[in-house]
Amino acid sequence: MKQRKITTIEQHILDAERMNPDASGTLTQILYDLALASKIISREVNKAGLVSLLGVTGTTNVQGEVVKKLDLFANDVIIQCLSEPGRVAVVGSEELEEAVILRENSHASYVVNMDPLDGSSNIDANVSIGTIFSILEMNPELSGQAQCLQAGSRQVAAGYIIYGSSTMFVYTTRDGTVNGFTLDPSVGEYFLSHSNIQTPQRGRIYSVNEGNYLKWQEGVKRYLKYVQAIEPDDDRPMTSRYIGSLVADFHRNLLYGGIFMYPADYKHPCGKLRLLYEASPLALVVNNAGGLATDGKRPILEIEPEELHQRVPLFIGSRDNVIQVMEFMKQ
Ligand code: AHG
Ligand code: MN
Ligand code: MN
Repeated sequence: MKQRKITTIEQHILDAERMNPDASGTLTQILYDLALASKIISREVNKAGLVSLLGVTGTTNVQGEVVKKLDLFANDVIIQCLSEPGRVAVVGSEELEEAVILRENSHASYVVNMDPLDGSSNIDANVSIGTIFSILEMNPELSGQAQCLQAGSRQVAAGYIIYGSSTMFVYTTRDGTVNGFTLDPSVGEYFLSHSNIQTPQRGRIYSVNEGNYLKWQEGVKRYLKYVQAIEPDDDRPMTSRYIGSLVADFHRNLLYGGIFMYPADYKHPCGKLRLLYEASPLALVVNNAGGLATDGKRPILEIEPEELHQRVPLFIGSRDNVIQVMEFMKQ
């Protein structure tokens, strides 16, 4: 019987580097750094309830360690892993008001924007959470913290880690495919489990916080009533699934097909989710998997950022579903 090839994430990343004659190996190292950081975060997430890591900053846990909120713990671990010499010059993080310039790396050629822990309000309820990352090259036309403010189309790589029933690392490179690696904690390795992920062109799942329904623009409301209508010939009603962790909702829809929406509303004219470290990286992933991501009008990847924590309405997932909601919003 032909043995299935076992591929670790390091082998996969290295193979990709070898196929790129211009590769310096630095992007490889950054992806390694992120994989390492995610293993450390996964370990803490999986025991968080035991060592009261959920506490507030500054208290101490049973081992007398200073307890950090898991968001800050994740933030610090990732920055520490990315601080190896010569790799990353600037890091933008949801947890930090301003981007961090890694002084000793000012000559480095990459920038990382990240959401160290997405869905963190769900940790206490043991619901899947994640890390989202976006990797850019330094732009000679920008300097310092402004290096983080680059359109999603300039990303050289992006992806996420989902800490769920298993821990999975999913990433893509600018012109690459989308691949998923599942962590085997018994050996501490990520193994290729989902090769060349392609999201269904059309899906039956819609994900949105319907509690905001009355605050949405009319087109979005009409779309919700359309997908809920009893039209069996048109495979409606669709199915509603909403976890409240973007990474978990996105990952399920990527594999099964469907649309995730966080629309603008009259209280949040730009929606809730952040462009640089939530929408843009997931937009690169979904685009390379055959899907779409827009703010309701424009492709997410084409939006020129103006500030680090800029929010953006998000409609992301299967191509046909995203196109359809945009039609309703135009009416
Ligand atoms: P974060 O925990 O990084 O702040 O992100 C939370 C986000 C996202 O994960 C999720 O889709 C969204 O908040 C849920 O928002 P609502 O609770 O308003 O639906
Ligand atoms: Mn988030
Ligand atoms: Mn977060």
